[in-house]
Amino acid sequence: GDVFTHDPGFTSTSSCESTITFIDGAEGVLLHRGYPIGQLAEKSHFLEVCYLLLYGELPSAAQLEDFETRVTRHTMLHEQMVNFFRGFRRDAHPMAIMVGVVGAMSAFYHDSTDINDPWQREVASIRLIAKMPTIAAWAYKYHIGQPFVYPRNDLDYASNFLRMCFAVPAEDYEVDPILSRAMDRIFTLHADHEQNASTSTVRLASSSGANPFACIAAGIACLWGPSHGGANQACLEMLREIGTVDRIPEFIARAKDKNDPFRLMGFGHRVYKNFDPRATVMKQSADEVLDLLGVEDNPTLQVAKELEKAALADPYFAEKKLFPNVDFYSGIILEAMGFPTSMFTPIFALSRTIGWVSQWKEMIADPKLKIGRPRQLYTGESQRDYVDVENR
Ligand code: CMC
Repeated sequence: GDVFTHDPGFTSTSSCESTITFIDGAEGVLLHRGYPIGQLAEKSHFLEVCYLLLYGELPSAAQLEDFETRVTRHTMLHEQMVNFFRGFRRDAHPMAIMVGVVGAMSAFYHDSTDINDPWQREVASIRLIAKMPTIAAWAYKYHIGQPFVYPRNDLDYASNFLRMCFAVPAEDYEVDPILSRAMDRIFTLHADHEQNASTSTVRLASSSGANPFACIAAGIACLWGPSHGGANQACLEMLREIGTVDRIPEFIARAKDKNDPFRLMGFGHRVYKNFDPRATVMKQSADEVLDLLGVEDNPTLQVAKELEKAALADPYFAEKKLFPNVDFYSGIILEAMGFPTSMFTPIFALSRTIGWVSQWKEMIADPKLKIGRPRQLYTGESQRDYVDVENR
């Protein structure tokens, strides 16, 4: 038969060549186009990182301004899209709405089906980056029954998103610069992470030459699960379930018990067997936001602070190299900002869109592109003869 490697979960399979992101899990290193994530989170901002991921170099001042203008021009959704939001039940999870609405965008941008045209690829990329905050914010507004807030293009990317989520008509809404900065950091820290499950999904879906909006919808679907992007929501729900600081030991004991499927959400990572470098920055950001907003009256945040300490001091987590990951701290920040847990994964999706888009663009432009087609280890019946129904 054919010869191939059996690698369930792709723990040791490289599926592509890429020049975008480098990770050294043992050392806890994450570089985008060579730049360390810590430097980008501290000195850069999300749209500049988008430019870097998409085009390979940091922009000049003029290039950045031009890029920001192009993104800003595309933040509005086609007015007809409103009907897609309205078609959902009010209690729909915002991720379900995002999968549907982003998939539906493929029907609005038929020109994007010509993926061999570099200009079409460029426009599709910009549209996706620009519209995703509007889509995520509108999924939220629809969910809570408030009117949609249209994008305001004099605001920066993060402030615009916060305003579309939290502004209500007839009331002024000022975006706090500390919160806007923290939001931008969450976007930046989630921007790309090489061949994770959702990015691999986008690559596999687009390897057939499919419409990019449909492929990004596939990525959103994959991200939703609790082992991946859904971990931030699952983490906060776990913190709420723990409820009070005195119950932490009980949950740590459950996480260590081999007969209990319970895991500490927001801990551990497939690649990082060291502190997740994104988590280091996110932790600082969480401390800033908590200082600003206070945790005294928020038991969930108190549990988070104590759980982090308890797990880091526990030999089980040390031996298995289980550290708090990026989703542990991002969930805490988003909770403090007032987002409901159902919005945590949509915010991850909007941030990761640039990673999906950059990797899609890189892949489509590769003249050696092949359709993704994994093999399998067949463990079923060997060949046998058909038996007529009356003889079974
Ligand atoms: N709590 C308790 N034990 C754990 C945990 C945890 N969170 N994570 C891993 N372990 C144990 C696991 O039981 C296993 O033990 P043993 O070797 O004795 O069987 C060992 O550590 C290795 O775990 P694994 O499941 O083989 O590792 P993996 O690389 O397949 O899984 C993971 C990685 C992220 C799915 C896993 O650590 C996990 O389920 N974490 C909780 C969910 C989570 O926070 N996910 C977000 C990941 S970061 C954001 C993103 O990229 O999406």
